[in-house]
Amino acid sequence: MGKTIWKGSALLGPVPPALVTCGTLEKPNVLTIAWTGIVCTHPAMTYISVRPSRYSYQLIQETGEFVINLPTSAMGKTTDFCGMKTGAKVNKIEKCGLTLAEGSQVSAPVLADCPVSLECRVTQAQELGSHTMFLAEIVAVQVEERFVDSKGKLNLQQAGLLAYAHGEYFALGRKCGDFGFSVKKKKKNPPKK
Ligand SMILES: Cc1cc2nc3c(=O)[nH]c(=O)nc-3n(C[C@H](O)[C@H](O)[C@H](O)COP(=O)(O)O)c2cc1C
Repeated sequence: MGKTIWKGSALLGPVPPALVTCGTLEKPNVLTIAWTGIVCTHPAMTYISVRPSRYSYQLIQETGEFVINLPTSAMGKTTDFCGMKTGAKVNKIEKCGLTLAEGSQVSAPVLADCPVSLECRVTQAQELGSHTMFLAEIVAVQVEERFVDSKGKLNLQQAGLLAYAHGEYFALGRKCGDFGFSVKKKKKNPPKK
């Protein structure tokens, strides 16, 4: 099967269309960010790439903190709206009926509506071109208790997270494996007593 070759472009998906909260509880804002990911396990580090024209850009510059909140597929419209309107003109938190909670390590607010929130502290800002990448340490993670089982395992399958790929939103589907399942040895039958 042939492939058409296009010029280089930002076509990587699915990615989380994260609801990034910034500012403070008193002066909060939220925007949608698709250009995000994990860059290091220890220390846990992430990035968000933000255009300097965004209202949030200034807030993140000032505080050096933000929170990456992962929305559910039920929050699709809210996620799109927060990426269409600017906090300079619209109070998106009020308009979308979002609920803010305190960060445990950062002064940026957490979205109570999202099952997972990563509290982040900026370590470096790098101008790349259209976007500035804020490299950040993940200093705390808040997860909704109902998705954590009795063994402390986080079951994200039940959370119904939202995904984004090439301009379209998707509801994450059926789980089809666990980390390492391709090489996992089958348990031998226990010896008969
Ligand atoms: C799905 C989606 C993904 C987006 N990803 C980014 C991104 O990675 N970086 C960015 O600067 N803007 C991104 N945007 C655009 C901003 O969210 C948008 O300009 C927003 O209105 C900025 O809000 P603010 O002015 O309140 O900061 C995205 C928008 C959508 C809908």
